Amino acid sequence: MIALALLLALACAIFYWILFVRVSNAGLAFENDLIIPPEMEFTVGPDGEKRFTLYVQEGEREFYPGLGAPTMGVNGNYLGPTIRAKRGERVVLNVHNYLNEDTTMHWHGMHVPAEMDGTPHQKITPGGDWTADYTITQEAGTMWYHPHTHGGTATQVHQGLAGLFYIDDANSERLELPNEYGVDDIPLVVQDRLFNTDGTFNYQIRTGAHYGDTILVNGTVAPRLAVESRKIRFRILNGSNARIYWLGFEDGRTFQQIATDGGFLDSPVDTKRVRLAPGERAELIVDFADGEAVKLKSFPEAGLLETTAAWFGQTTNGHFDVMEIRPQPATRVSHEIPDTLNRIQRLDRDRANVTRNMFLGGMVINGRSMSMMRIDERIRLGDTEIWRIRNNTGRTHPFHVHLVQFLILDRDGRPPSAQEAGWKDTVHVAAGETVNIIMQFTQYANRHVPYMYHCHILEHEDNGMMGQFVVVDDSK
Ligand code: C2O
Ligand code: CU
Ligand code: CU
Repeated sequence: MIALALLLALACAIFYWILFVRVSNAGLAFENDLIIPPEMEFTVGPDGEKRFTLYVQEGEREFYPGLGAPTMGVNGNYLGPTIRAKRGERVVLNVHNYLNEDTTMHWHGMHVPAEMDGTPHQKITPGGDWTADYTITQEAGTMWYHPHTHGGTATQVHQGLAGLFYIDDANSERLELPNEYGVDDIPLVVQDRLFNTDGTFNYQIRTGAHYGDTILVNGTVAPRLAVESRKIRFRILNGSNARIYWLGFEDGRTFQQIATDGGFLDSPVDTKRVRLAPGERAELIVDFADGEAVKLKSFPEAGLLETTAAWFGQTTNGHFDVMEIRPQPATRVSHEIPDTLNRIQRLDRDRANVTRNMFLGGMVINGRSMSMMRIDERIRLGDTEIWRIRNNTGRTHPFHVHLVQFLILDRDGRPPSAQEAGWKDTVHVAAGETVNIIMQFTQYANRHVPYMYHCHILEHEDNGMMGQFVVVDDSK
């Protein structure tokens, strides 16, 4: 009996060490300069609209020197440039498909008409092109773009099709925040990849989702970044197919979170960790005044259910060194981060016209697998809705809704943390958890062209964990 108990304790200790202590990529030398995606060039059209051209193409990238890997990129060989526009501006985005397969281009987090959303319904065939044309009506924030190809999103994003889309507005321009692109306002697209020994991607779906053991930031393996020793802003996108990150610094320093997916928080939130599931974004302010080099890490912190699942072979998260930041002498003084960043108009629970249930099952939502031919939900224009998202599975699903930014009302009845009390378009729904979100459908009725809602683990999405909704104007 005692021997058995000891053996069990030993086994537990080993599992604990493997899951929570061991750094999966320990000992990495961070010797590659972080690639900063360029800002996308544009021309100004006759009506003042900003015109962007996106060439979706195949390419080759040496993630490891001398070892080329076939990839895909937008206007380049891996990932794409950062699109930037201001609230009130009209953008015209002309997307050319130079791939040998169908693709689409979706503007994740963006409030746009359904026919401009770049879902599977706006397919671009090989050699073809498609134009999205819309006016930016939402507040400043960090959005992104990626294909939404029917059944093919996971592979295309994995190959490199993704980029950032920054929205500026009067508030973001007025706020005294670091905003010099690539200097003190740094984009970080975090992705995990698995490599073959010849330097090519090894894309395998084992547990219904793909996990890699190598972390890329903006497509850079083992990146280092020189910054001035002052406050630096990071805009982080979890652009991974499936992996969740709990980001923080190796020295346990406190930093400030200033924005969620869809805009600024009301006030900066002091924290040591930020959790990002696939599709989620956060903006952080980190002070490097001490001049010490420090590693950005992803820590293993999972709930009990997920930890148990991990024991049975399901990968959940991991313990990684992500990048090294090396402060250099500063040429200007640090920004005083304002206490008030935003004034979020909270949506009152009592004002909701409709409550919908979203039961997350194994690759299904409400028991149904995605069909392009079926409209799952009809929403009345102008309505405020509460969606009750219940995760009946043994693992996290990040739930994403197109068209809107929503607010989290509660997680299992508890109000969201200050870090999540801002506009969101993707929400981490843990195993066994119920999350209530609230949103308003103010614009863009179209009874024929649907928007999507889905799990943002891309392999789950491709395998049917997605549904379609239309917004209808009853007065017409
Ligand atoms: Cu980021 Cu429907 O997707
Ligand atoms: Cu989206
Ligand atoms: Cu999922």
